[in-house]
Amino acid sequence: MKQYIVAGNWKMHKDVQEANLFVLNILKDLLNQKKIQIIICPSYTALFNIHELLKNTPIGLGGQNMHSQSKGAFTGEISGEMLMSAGCQYVILGHSERRHVFGEADDFIRDKVKQALAIGLKPIICVGEKLDERQSGQTLEVIRRQCDSALSVVTEHEIQHCVIAYEPVWAIGTGVVATPEQASEAHAMIRKLLATKYSKSTADSISILYGGSVKSSNAASLIQAPDIDGFLIGGASLLEDEFVKIAEIVDEYLKQKES
Ligand code: 13P
Repeated sequence: MKQYIVAGNWKMHKDVQEANLFVLNILKDLLNQKKIQIIICPSYTALFNIHELLKNTPIGLGGQNMHSQSKGAFTGEISGEMLMSAGCQYVILGHSERRHVFGEADDFIRDKVKQALAIGLKPIICVGEKLDERQSGQTLEVIRRQCDSALSVVTEHEIQHCVIAYEPVWAIGTGVVATPEQASEAHAMIRKLLATKYSKSTADSISILYGGSVKSSNAASLIQAPDIDGFLIGGASLLEDEFVKIAEIVDEYLKQKES
């Protein structure tokens, strides 16, 4: 069964104390959203404390990146095993900031996906085109290249443990959200790629999240669009009210859908 997911990517925000306080303040509200999987991806230094707050709850914990190797002379890096020992079940891989600010190539991201799955971490694999790529009609090509590379190491069994996030670079942190139609079109492309590579039933069981300027004011229209199975949220996930409200919107949508 496909899960609906609301995930917060805090990026480089919130120190240990701020992170604790944030989670303590909203934990009760988040636990009321029973139909969805909520995931929090804080900074590395806050992971273990948040794990302590979230353990014995269904709320997931994720890292924002990891290295493709288990250990070694990689100053400043973190391994998937380290994330797991701090309590993570998920890891964001291939985020556009990793790709475009830190120059991570498709091959490196592919190796990370392989490593995450090998050790039992669920990768949230991010794909998405830049503005010039959209404007020159290359959206599908870019998404296909990124998906093909990242999924080249993923079996049909393993894909069940992956989440895909479509995050158009032009919508990230800009306040320019994709329209439900634009997001839906890209998600449908991704679903089709998954169906071709694996099978239709497998493709239908994978959660494809939208990310890029999601707020409580646009979440309701986006979640109703076909093929959108939740959100990967940056800025709005740092605000208690906003994050809770978006989780409530998705949970409510599912309740209505099922009734
Ligand atoms: P914003 O929600 O701030 O646009 O960021 C989206 C994002 O990059 C989530 O990974």
